[in-house]
Order: sequence, then C-alpha cells, then structure tokens
Amino acid sequence: MDTIIYHLNSNEIDQSAIEKAGDIIKNGGLVAFPTETVYGLGGDAMNAKASAKIYEAKGRPSDNPLIAHIASLEMLDDLVEDVPEWSRKLMEAFWPGPMTLIFHKKNKVPDSTTGGLETLAVRFPNHPVAQALIKSAGTSIAAPSANISGRPSPTKGEHVIEDLDGRIDCIIDGGEVEVGIESTIIDCTGDAPMILRPGYITKEKIEDVVGETTVDPSILEKIEDVAPKAPGMKYKHYAPKADFVMYRGNANKVAEKIIGEANSKDAKVGIITVDQHLNLYEGLVGENVEVISLGDVDNLDSIAHALFNVLREFDEKQVEYIIGETIPEENLGTAIMNRLTKASGYQVKDI
Ligand code: TXA
Ligand code: MG
Repeated sequence: MDTIIYHLNSNEIDQSAIEKAGDIIKNGGLVAFPTETVYGLGGDAMNAKASAKIYEAKGRPSDNPLIAHIASLEMLDDLVEDVPEWSRKLMEAFWPGPMTLIFHKKNKVPDSTTGGLETLAVRFPNHPVAQALIKSAGTSIAAPSANISGRPSPTKGEHVIEDLDGRIDCIIDGGEVEVGIESTIIDCTGDAPMILRPGYITKEKIEDVVGETTVDPSILEKIEDVAPKAPGMKYKHYAPKADFVMYRGNANKVAEKIIGEANSKDAKVGIITVDQHLNLYEGLVGENVEVISLGDVDNLDSIAHALFNVLREFDEKQVEYIIGETIPEENLGTAIMNRLTKASGYQVKDI
C-alpha cells in the first residue's frame, strides 16, 4: 500500500491536507496523526471494519480495546452513558488534554472498537492537528499509539514512518510531540475514580480535583493470576530489541554495579542514567558502552519527553544489552517507571 505522508506545521495547519485525511477516515481508511502525548493510529471509531484494520496494521491482539478521540463534549454524550458528576469535574480540569476516561458505551459503538467490552475509553486531545482531523472526519476517531504492537510509542513523525509506512493510508507528520508519554486512563464506571494506567496527569493532580483515587493494584507490580483492568497493560510493551535490566538502590552502588556489568559484556551495551549521575560513569566504561541520560531528574517532564525516543535510539544503535538506573516513583515518576518496568519485562532488581 502506498502511504500518503503530509508534513504539517502544527501552528499553521494546511487545511487541504486535513480535509483529505478526514476523507480517508470517513471512507474507512487509517490515518496516523500527532496528539500531545504520542502519535495515534486513527480510524472511524463507529466503523467496525476500520477498527479491525487498526488491529491488523499494528499487529495488535484484538482483545485490547481502543481509545475513542473526540473534539467536543457533545461527542462524548453521543458515545457513552452513565457519566457521573465527579467525572465532569475531571473533564473541566484536564480536557482537552492527556487524560482518558472510561464509561459504559452506547449500543451503537461497535464491539470491535472496545475489544468486546461494554465500556469505552474516551479522550479529548489537546493538539490542534488531532482536533482538526476529528472535526474534518465528522466522527470520533479510534486510535491506539501509532507503533507496531510491543514497540516504544512514537513521539516523532519519523517513528511512525519507521513502523507504519506502507501499512496504512496516510501519516500526518506534525513534528515532535509535547508530552511524550501516554494519557492517564481513569475508570469512571464505579463509585470513585480508579487509575488503570498511570500517565501524564498524576494521581496527585487527580486527587486535588476529585478526592481519593485508587490505582489498579496489578499495574504497579506483576500479581500472579490477576489481569490488569486495562487489557493492554498485560502485554510486554514499549520494548527495545535489547535485553533490558534496571537496578534500584543507592546511586553510587547502582552505578558501580552497572559499570561492572556493562564492562563484562562482549557486546554493545547502553546505560540509562540521569543528568545528575552522568559523572558517576565518566571515564569508567569501555568503548563498547554508551551512556545515555534521560534528562534532569528534577524535571520529570523532560524525562517523560525523552523516554521513548531514547528506547528507540538504542535499537538504531543496535545495542544488545541495556542496563538502567531507576527513577523515584512519585508524581510523574510513577508513569515513567511503569513504562520502563514494562520495557524491561519487569526486570527491576534492588541492590
Ligand atoms: O495518550 C494516549 O492515550 C495515546 C494517544 C494516541 O491518545 N493512546 C494510547 O492508546 O496510548 P493505546 O491503545 O496504545 O493504549 C490504550 C490503553 C490500552 O492499555 C487498553 O487496553 C486500554 O487503554 N483501554 C482502552 N479501552 C479500555 C476499556 N474500555 N477498559 C479498560 N481499558 C481500556
Ligand atoms: Mg500503546
């Protein structure tokens, strides 16, 4: 399949490209587009065949439901029912933005969009290209992250081209995304909010708006025989091609352990650290070892922004082993560590 690629400037959107892309969605085709979190792979959420094509293009298991993206609150009421009053407060505080809410779906939403579930995840993205595309398509757009299933989520147009060129109808390259980590998913079908996937909007910020909020326990650690409530959270994900392990503990001891292990490998090794610890590795690693910082640990936004790009960079450099430090699991650190832990296949060791 020939994929049409549009390169758009998000500040000055080329309306004719948006119209053509909107027509592709209307006709049941697939368009990858930028959102503020990561790129999405979009199709008409109300068209069962379009959803089926999304699963196929990504190589995604069909029990893993899609998020419907909307561009107005009226669109929400058309898709779901039983919307509790407290969830409206969340919408006021964080929409448009990096938050996804789950409600009971209306009958007309096809089962293939929700992976057979009776609930639907909905997000109102705050990216001008995403909003323009949804409006132009005249329908809500079902969109998972625009990566091949299992790979790190795409934060740049070139990541999407790398994964999906030739597999979908159109890619809108709108440059680098702002946030770099996916939306926070909140289940609104119970009496109180429950976080099913940590994301850019932290638990602390949610609690400031709606009070006590729980977190699905099985996403914080692997619990035998308990599946996470968000089906996608059970799969190996975000994974670079290399074997990836992380060490948690005192910074000096961790660096010592990482250096010893890195220098003992007879292959290309990547070390993940943060700006504050770069000096612990200086002059101490062999020439087969590359040390990459995720950024300033006092500025977790910058780390979230760099994360998936760094994981993809290791693939490009054909690194065979990645050895990483952990970062503190508070505020945005929870979401960042969730992604890193999954990327490592839960290989996080305390020392
Ligand atoms: O920031 C984001 O959320 C990005 C951008 C493109 O909007 N999208 C994204 O979609 O991350 P995806 O498909 O990669 O992840 C969606 C997650 C999956 O883990 C899926 O299982 C879960 O949301 N999910 C979707 N609908 C659900 C539902 N009805 N109940 C529980 N979990 C659901
Ligand atoms: Mg994804």
